[in-house]
Amino acid sequence: MTDDVDATAPLIKLTDVGKRYGNVIALRGVSLSVAGGEVTCVLGDNGAGKSTLIKIVSGVHRPDEGSFEVGGEPVSFASPRDALSRGIATVYQDLAVVPLMPVWRNFFLGSERRRGFGRIDVGFMRRTTKSELLEMGIDLRDVDQPIGTLSGGERQCVAIARAVYFGAKVLILDEPTAALGVKQAGVVLRYIVQARERGLGVIFITHNPHHAYPVGDRFLILNRGRSVGYHDKRDITRDQLTALMAGGTELEQLAHELETVSAGAARELTEEAKDLGVTPTDD
Ligand SMILES: Nc1ncnc2c1ncn2[C@@H]1O[C@H](COP(=O)(O)OP(=O)(O)OP(=O)(O)O)[C@@H](O)[C@H]1O
Ligand SMILES: [Mg+2]
Repeated sequence: MTDDVDATAPLIKLTDVGKRYGNVIALRGVSLSVAGGEVTCVLGDNGAGKSTLIKIVSGVHRPDEGSFEVGGEPVSFASPRDALSRGIATVYQDLAVVPLMPVWRNFFLGSERRRGFGRIDVGFMRRTTKSELLEMGIDLRDVDQPIGTLSGGERQCVAIARAVYFGAKVLILDEPTAALGVKQAGVVLRYIVQARERGLGVIFITHNPHHAYPVGDRFLILNRGRSVGYHDKRDITRDQLTALMAGGTELEQLAHELETVSAGAARELTEEAKDLGVTPTDD
């Protein structure tokens, strides 16, 4: 079989991409290039256009403007299935799992391994799930336990291991750490690094520069649908990233507003305490 895909081309290349929903311009003039063995973080506030961007890459939407290439070849995906067939796998925050089904069934959901007469090969799927998870450093005692009993972080990890097993070249993670505590977020971040070490190109969407900075090789910062920065890690510090993401002056303004609000609230509480005849303490 000849492979006509240019091996030196980036896995994903978006150039000046734009997307509108009716009158709303969700994305304008955004460019992005993703190579294997690299983590690209997409940061931005609510409504910045992060999900719109990855929906273009994952075949849910088509861009209205700009070009989209996969492995150096222009593409126009009609559906997420087209993207998946080119090795682009997406793990959504609200994972499509069946909570009462065992971990191994969820791992193979929609891609069950069969033996003769159409019977599913339970033994193979159990063993494979166990060993694939182990390879990612997840030691589950029992792959027969319902996936609903795993923690949110573990479930994200199962989804990542699954995408890796089924041959993803590009792994897109939409806010995988948003709902997690510090420890679990750390576990997910570790698997992001592992996916990179296996040579995948990872696109990691997050609100949180403290999650992005340690694992990211490149950072795309969006604000109201536009790119406000696209940097290699060596060109940007964590503080600069945080400031860019929050839109520097906007963050200062917010800090000021919060101070004003809390000063007002403290005053009100003191008044209230006086009315109630309570003496406020000094702590
Ligand atoms: N299906 C849609 N129809 C109309 N407007 C949409 C649609 N999806 C998104 N938008 C709008 O496009 C803009 C970008 O939305 P998008 O979901 O890409 O942002 P986001 O960065 O993912 O935000 P969040 O952090 O809240 O997930 C927003 O103004 C949003 O209201
Ligand atoms: Mg979103």
